[in-house]
Amino acid sequence: MAEKSWYQEAVFFELNIRACQDSGGDGNGDFRGAITRLDHIKSLGVDCIWVQPMYPSPLKDDGYDVADYCGIHPDFGTLEDFKAFLDAAHARGLRVVTDLVMNHCSEEHPWFQAARTDRNSPYRDYFVWSDTPDKYTETRIIFLDVEPSNWTYDEVAGQYFWHRFYASQPDLNYDNPAVHEEMFNIIRFWLDMGIDGFRADAVPYLYEREGTNCENLPETHEFLKKVRRLIDEEYPNRVLIAEANQWPEDLLPYFGDGDEFHVCFHFPIMPRLYMALKRGDKTSIIDILARTPAIPPGAQWMTFLRNHDELTLEMVTPEERQWMWEQYAPNPRARLNLGIRRRLLPLLDGDMRRWLLLNAMFLSLPGTPILYYGDEIGMGDNLALEDRYGVRTPMQWSAAKNAGFSDADRTYLPVIDDEIYGYQRVNVAEQETDPDSYLAWTRYLIATRQEQPALRAGVLSWAATEDRAVLAFRRTEGANSVLCIFNLTDAARSSGITPAANMRDLLSRAGEICEAGREIQLAPYQALWLLESPA
Ligand code: NOJ
Repeated sequence: MAEKSWYQEAVFFELNIRACQDSGGDGNGDFRGAITRLDHIKSLGVDCIWVQPMYPSPLKDDGYDVADYCGIHPDFGTLEDFKAFLDAAHARGLRVVTDLVMNHCSEEHPWFQAARTDRNSPYRDYFVWSDTPDKYTETRIIFLDVEPSNWTYDEVAGQYFWHRFYASQPDLNYDNPAVHEEMFNIIRFWLDMGIDGFRADAVPYLYEREGTNCENLPETHEFLKKVRRLIDEEYPNRVLIAEANQWPEDLLPYFGDGDEFHVCFHFPIMPRLYMALKRGDKTSIIDILARTPAIPPGAQWMTFLRNHDELTLEMVTPEERQWMWEQYAPNPRARLNLGIRRRLLPLLDGDMRRWLLLNAMFLSLPGTPILYYGDEIGMGDNLALEDRYGVRTPMQWSAAKNAGFSDADRTYLPVIDDEIYGYQRVNVAEQETDPDSYLAWTRYLIATRQEQPALRAGVLSWAATEDRAVLAFRRTEGANSVLCIFNLTDAARSSGITPAANMRDLLSRAGEICEAGREIQLAPYQALWLLESPA
C-alpha cells in the first residue's frame, strides 16, 4: 500500500487568532495569548492548525483584505510572536498552515494606493481596470447582499476596478507576470519561516476572460500549477489546500494530474449532511459522493461542518436552498448572501444527539476533516452582529470575565452571553469536568478516528440498507474495517444489517457489542462505528 502523506489522514483545526486569547489586555486575541491555548488545541487530538489571516489589514473583511503580505497585524503581535507561536505548535507536534490570499488585497495595500494615484506607476497594472463597468458581465456577484457590481469606480484613479468580493478588496491582475513574482516571494517568505503550507483563499477567480463566467479558467490552473511546482521543488512535505466553492467535477482540475493542489475543500457535501439529517433521508449524501470523481494518488478532500463564513448554499439547487433556509434559518436575520450565518449547535437546536450524529458522520466519511474553533464546546452565535461576525465571537474558556478570553473592558466583539449559550454555562473549564460534555465527546471521537486506519484512510463502500433513513458504509484499510451506521431520524429503526460476528461499537465508551446473528437496532439519531476486524 502506498505511503500516505500526513495531510491525507490528518484532522485540522481552524483558528482565528483574534478570537483565541488576549494576552495584552486590548480586547483582541494575539499570538502570545494563543500560545497559552495550544495545549487545549493539542488535547482535542488534531494534527494541524489553520491560522486565519493574521496580516496587517484594515479588517474590513476580517483580514482577508491584506495590506501587507509579509507582516503581522499589530493587534495580533509581531513576526517574532508569530514565530514563537509556530515553534510552540511544532514543539507539541502540531503543524500550522496559514491563509494565502492571492485573488485580491486591501484597498489600503501600498500597491493599490500607488496604482490609483498614478496611472504611470508600475503598480497600476497590478489591478484590473476599465473605463466602463460593462466588461465580464457573465460573472456572478458573490457578496450579493452588499455589492451591486463586481466593478467599483475609483474617483482618484478615474476608472473602474474589478473585485469579486467587497469593493475594499481590489482583485489582483494575474495577466501581469509581476504579480506572479510577488506571490512566489510571499509564498517563499512564509515557507522559509517554517509553516507547513497554505489554505489558498478564493482560487477560482484569478483570471478574467470575456465571454466566460471568469471562474476556473485554464489560465488560473496554469498559474496554480506554477505555485505547486515551486512548493514541490523547494519545500517538500508542505501542503497546498484549495478553497474553491465549486461542484465536484469543477473541483477535479484543481488537483491536476497530482500537480496542482494536494487538498481541495469539498463544498457540496457539507450542506447535504445537514439536508440528510433534516429530511431523515440519506439520498443526498450518496448522490453527491457518486458525483465526486476519483482524485489522483496523494490528493485528498477536506471536509467541514462549519467554518467562519456563512454555511454556504451555493452548491445546491435553488429549490434545495429555499428548503434549507426554511428548515435551518426561519429567522431572516440568520440568512446571508446564499447561506446561513449560524454556528453548528444552534443549527441543530442545541440537540446533542444530532450534534454527535453529524460529527460521527463527518469524522468517518472520507476526507480530511477540519473543525471550527468553539464547535468543540458547542458555542452559540450572535445574530445581532452583522455580516459573519456572529460566528466569530471570542472563545469561551471559563465563566470568568469575558469568558477568560481577555481582561479588557471591551473585546473586539462581545462574548456570547445569552441564556442558552452564554459563557457562564458554555465554556471549556466547565466541560473539562464533565465526561459527557461536547468537549469530552469531541476528544473521544477524534481519538477513536485517529486509532483506526480505516477511519482515517479507508476505502468507502456502501452497506446495503433498504431504509433511506439509515446510512451505512464500510471503511476498509488493509485488515482494518469499520462499519458505520447512522439513524437519521428521531424514531427507533431496524438497520436491516445482521452481523455475522460480534462487533464492538467504538462509539460506545462502555464498549457495547452488536451480537452476531441479531439485526442491529438503532435508537433515535444513533450512530455506530462497529469494528469488524482488529486494528
Ligand atoms: C473566503 C473566506 O473564507 C471569506 O471569509 C472571505 O470573505 C472571502 N474568501 C474573500 O477573501
